[in-house]
Amino acid sequence: MNKFIDLRSDTVTRPSQQMRKAMYEAEVGDDVFQEDPTVNDLQEFAAELLGKEAALFVSSGVMGNQLCLNVLTNPGDEVICEKDAHIFQYESGSPAVLSGIQLSPIEGKYGVITSEQIEPCIRPASAYYMPRTKVVTIENTHNRAGGTIHPIENILHIKELVKKNNLYFHLDGARIWNASVASKISVREYASHFDSISCCLSKGLGAPVGSIIAGTKEFIKEAFRVRKSWGGGMRQVGILAAAGLYALKNNIERLTEDHQKARALAETINEISSFEIDLNAVQTNIVIFKSNLLSVEQVISDCKEQGLLISEGRPGYLRAITHLDVSFNDIENAKKVLKSLF
Ligand SMILES: Cc1ncc(COP(=O)(O)O)c(C=O)c1O
Repeated sequence: MNKFIDLRSDTVTRPSQQMRKAMYEAEVGDDVFQEDPTVNDLQEFAAELLGKEAALFVSSGVMGNQLCLNVLTNPGDEVICEKDAHIFQYESGSPAVLSGIQLSPIEGKYGVITSEQIEPCIRPASAYYMPRTKVVTIENTHNRAGGTIHPIENILHIKELVKKNNLYFHLDGARIWNASVASKISVREYASHFDSISCCLSKGLGAPVGSIIAGTKEFIKEAFRVRKSWGGGMRQVGILAAAGLYALKNNIERLTEDHQKARALAETINEISSFEIDLNAVQTNIVIFKSNLLSVEQVISDCKEQGLLISEGRPGYLRAITHLDVSFNDIENAKKVLKSLF
């Protein structure tokens, strides 16, 4: 093997030749004046795909989530989320820093929280001395739980509760494309149940940068203002938007392949007695597993010596993620490396 097989994340992909061509040829303008035609095309295309009134191109998934929470809340408000949610674990405490809000995490199963769990966490409106619950957020697919899909019936139950209590419902849909392809539920159907959605172009879809947020026109107008205040106003950014547009038009359906690769890898891991894996959690492109004999660091370094890169998932667990830059043949080689470890 003369190159690394990189399964650390689906963010490690490099833009393909065709994507680079689209970027090279992109028409551009000043997006702070909303005059970049490629950015405008991307935002219109994404809004249509997600069935929302408007969409906004933002620099990252974190920026997308945080902009949405900022627009939906006031300082002192509270947002209910799952305990392993990206928003809670991996966004540098930015709900507190950027919006002056706090999170109320609930422990889920496979990343899924239920309306029965959420209901008692909603603060009573009369309790002026408590934070005010304003938003419920879920993550689909759920990264830390292993790319698990949030069941649609559960989403509907939470939505009902959210509406009954006059709250907002936000979706961290960084990998909503994976959920959609695997469940055969359109992204439009998923998005229709939420007030705001953030979804990444730079993960499974293979664009080098960027996320999209979507919601009502009024919501996006305010997000546009806040994005500027956070230094997120970009100029001739059509060069990057072109990659996102290419990704949305060409790279969604092929995610099925990534799911097949993850499944194949997971089944081999399941056959290696020194590894432990919950195959029920392997629903899309993420494989979380654990070694009974070696430490996480040891497995990572032994794999690296043989040209395979994997990472630590939630503490104590290993993580391998399939993506557009690993072939079925790479997965066969990755399996050989894992089998050779013990
Ligand atoms: C579920 C989820 N949300 C948000 C993000 C943040 O995306 P970014 O790294 O583009 O800020 C990630 C990144 O891995 C993620 O997995």
